[in-house]
Amino acid sequence: MAFLQKASFVAAALAGSAFAVPFGLAPAAAACNRTALTLAADAYVAAQTAGQLEPLLAVTAANWSYVENNSKVDVAGGARGVLAKALKIDHRRTVYDMVVCATFSELVSASDAANPYVIGVQLHHDASGAVVLVDSIVSTTGAWLFDAKKTLTLLQQETWAPIPEAQRDPRALIQAAGDAYLDMWSNATASQAVPWGTPCTRLEGSAYTGHNRPDDSCKPGIPSNHNQAPNTHRRYVIDESMGTVSIFCVWEHMMNAADSHEFRLEGGKLRYVHTMTSCGNKTCRL
Ligand SMILES: *[C@@H]1O[C@H](CO)[C@@H](O)[C@H](O)[C@H]1NC(C)=O
Ligand SMILES: *[C@@H]1O[C@H](CO)[C@@H](O)[C@H](O)[C@H]1NC(C)=O
Ligand SMILES: *[C@@H]1O[C@H](CO)[C@@H](O)[C@H](O)[C@H]1NC(C)=O
Ligand SMILES: *[C@@H]1O[C@H](CO)[C@@H](O)[C@H](O)[C@H]1NC(C)=O
Repeated sequence: MAFLQKASFVAAALAGSAFAVPFGLAPAAAACNRTALTLAADAYVAAQTAGQLEPLLAVTAANWSYVENNSKVDVAGGARGVLAKALKIDHRRTVYDMVVCATFSELVSASDAANPYVIGVQLHHDASGAVVLVDSIVSTTGAWLFDAKKTLTLLQQETWAPIPEAQRDPRALIQAAGDAYLDMWSNATASQAVPWGTPCTRLEGSAYTGHNRPDDSCKPGIPSNHNQAPNTHRRYVIDESMGTVSIFCVWEHMMNAADSHEFRLEGGKLRYVHTMTSCGNKTCRL
């Protein structure tokens, strides 16, 4: 029951957003404004840093929605979610989807040992540039393979440079790679559709498959049981200039967890996978 309610919250929250536009059909409205996207992502970080909603309210539409861990946060009723906590942000990377007009930011707050967080947030904008949906996955102690300090150290060792224009992969190819990967739990042939790269490294919570070797692989530990519940209610932010797709979903096969996967492709091949999986206020268990 709780899960169905959760899913419908997400569906309702997403219904009016740019995300509802079928894949491949850009909104006919005005071009997406990159400055507005940057200002909004900055405002989110300012709100999290201050532990106050106000900076964010400067960039939201009148009837914006806030979804955290796939559940609607009742802002009108005074709820603030994780934004009620002032957190020092130690790492931030924001990527831009200029087609659906959205950003994804990967944030780590590791310096306060009593209050560690790894947060993924998608901000979805309307045609005027205002934020209509704040969609976040919030992980802390108890989340899958959680260790913010270790995650921070590993993130700082990776290089995610912009992809030179002539070498960018098409949007559909980037999304298909992420979808094939997320299909591996429920589809026996999906792994054959993943464009595995070498080297490839996976940062799953704080667990790392990389050994800093040219033959690093993302395959160790991929699902061998393909009859599990699927990863559903996927929300996408795709940035061709970074080779990335951020996908939020319901991780049905592990406690209906709230999950964030970010994939980076280089030259058509999977190079990096970053995950955050939150079981809300419970400890994640398979
Ligand atoms: C409020 O949001 C809904 C869907 O999210 C949208 O259809 C509607 O136009 C919005 N109304 C205003 C006044 O912005
Ligand atoms: C883009 O957004 C910025 C910040 O909100 C605004 O100052 C600027 O006028 C916008 N540009 C266009 C072309 O609308
Ligand atoms: C399983 O994955 C393969 C490869 O991506 C795809 O062709 C096929 O349609 C998928 N099957 C189902 C039932 O989704
Ligand atoms: C999301 O999960 C975090 C812990 O990972 C928890 O502190 C927070 O309350 C959750 N948010 C919602 C809206 O359930």
